[in-house]
Amino acid sequence: MFTKKTVKDIDISGKRVLLSVDYNVPGDADGNVTSDERIEASLPTLQYLISKRCSIILVSHRDRPGGKVVKRFSLEPVSRILSKLLDQEVQFIDDCIGGRVVKAKQSLQPGQILLLENTRFYPGEEANDKDFAKQLAEHTDVFVQDAFGNAHRTHATTDSVTRYLPSVAGLLLEKEVDTITNVMESPQRPLMAIIGGAKISDKLDIINRFIDIADFVAVGGAMANTFLLASGMDVAKSKVDRDDVPLAKEIMERAREKSKQQHFVFYLPQDGVVASKLDKTAKTRIVDWDAHVIASVENYPNRPPRESRHIADDEMILDIGPFSGAFMAGGMQLANTVIWNGAMGVTETDGLQGPVGPFAHGTELIVDSMLGQYGHRPFSVVGGGDTVGYLEDRQLVKGFNHVSTGGGASMELMSGKLLPGVEALMDKG
Ligand code: 3PG
Repeated sequence: MFTKKTVKDIDISGKRVLLSVDYNVPGDADGNVTSDERIEASLPTLQYLISKRCSIILVSHRDRPGGKVVKRFSLEPVSRILSKLLDQEVQFIDDCIGGRVVKAKQSLQPGQILLLENTRFYPGEEANDKDFAKQLAEHTDVFVQDAFGNAHRTHATTDSVTRYLPSVAGLLLEKEVDTITNVMESPQRPLMAIIGGAKISDKLDIINRFIDIADFVAVGGAMANTFLLASGMDVAKSKVDRDDVPLAKEIMERAREKSKQQHFVFYLPQDGVVASKLDKTAKTRIVDWDAHVIASVENYPNRPPRESRHIADDEMILDIGPFSGAFMAGGMQLANTVIWNGAMGVTETDGLQGPVGPFAHGTELIVDSMLGQYGHRPFSVVGGGDTVGYLEDRQLVKGFNHVSTGGGASMELMSGKLLPGVEALMDKG
């Protein structure tokens, strides 16, 4: 249960509201916005505040400009998109403190919206500077935190600002924290966690938490290569993190211990898509290192040829193979909740034709399965910036039960950590 006060727990009618949102949206080299998912996600709180005749001053960061003005990280393009989505004017001012901002704040009428410039153009934002926060808070009555994606940061717009204004949560923040906390604390079982991505050490806390709470943990992506290496397999040129090998061994040991005590599966890929170069023209083949699928028809029952079970010296694993994908999809047929974080293979390489890249088929299979393509549709939660970015590019976000708008924030919450931006808000009751 969400324990912080929200916009609905206070009398907010007609108030001048400082609303923090996460408009850290991706953009092209000129700063044009390439995905408006995060802007859309801010609409419920905005619409609620408009219905309450509030005057709304929006603050956000965009990217990491390092305390100085970087034009392509301006929020100006966001104001135009927001204006279209809300079908009303959104004023924009290219600063977030100072005389012009004060004037604009003061002349804002009920129901009107003013978007301020990127707070990270000032070093005070990331330094959690009190004076900077005070100036942001001036000439407003209430602070509403709706920037879930930024709530794991201790910055001026997540922490210091709450010293100067009564501070409550927006509807997106409430939904994110509530959904993720519920699914981690009291999921509909069986609970399956699918985790991919590059480095085990980056995701150590979340892997350990999944081993603690899930019934089935499946690993893919480059981190699976490190686990395979740690279990003694020759992964040839595959991307691995040798420093993480001892960690991988510890995790596998924890998983083994748990499966001795209860029904629990820790699943590493049994086959993979390999190639000798990471390129859309690369010749790919399937290697079945557990020799589960590829039979030697001529010599049956002899083992299949060596090359079908071994990765050649110049090859690397770039995706999970069809058997592993099918095994994970089968797991999802039994699961009532699936939490997914991290791609199963290299999803950035475009294919020669069609929408799915040559090393993205494993990830696509996971997506299809989560979306119920094979019959059963589990409750689906997706977290992590890259994974969500992939779904945004493929325009698949809407099919899932919950796709978190937070990258690092969702990971920290799933790991069981408290988020400073949430902790700073007023408690309910
Ligand atoms: C995010 O995109 O995860 C948030 O906006 C936080 O951004 P940051 O990682 O640059 O602090």
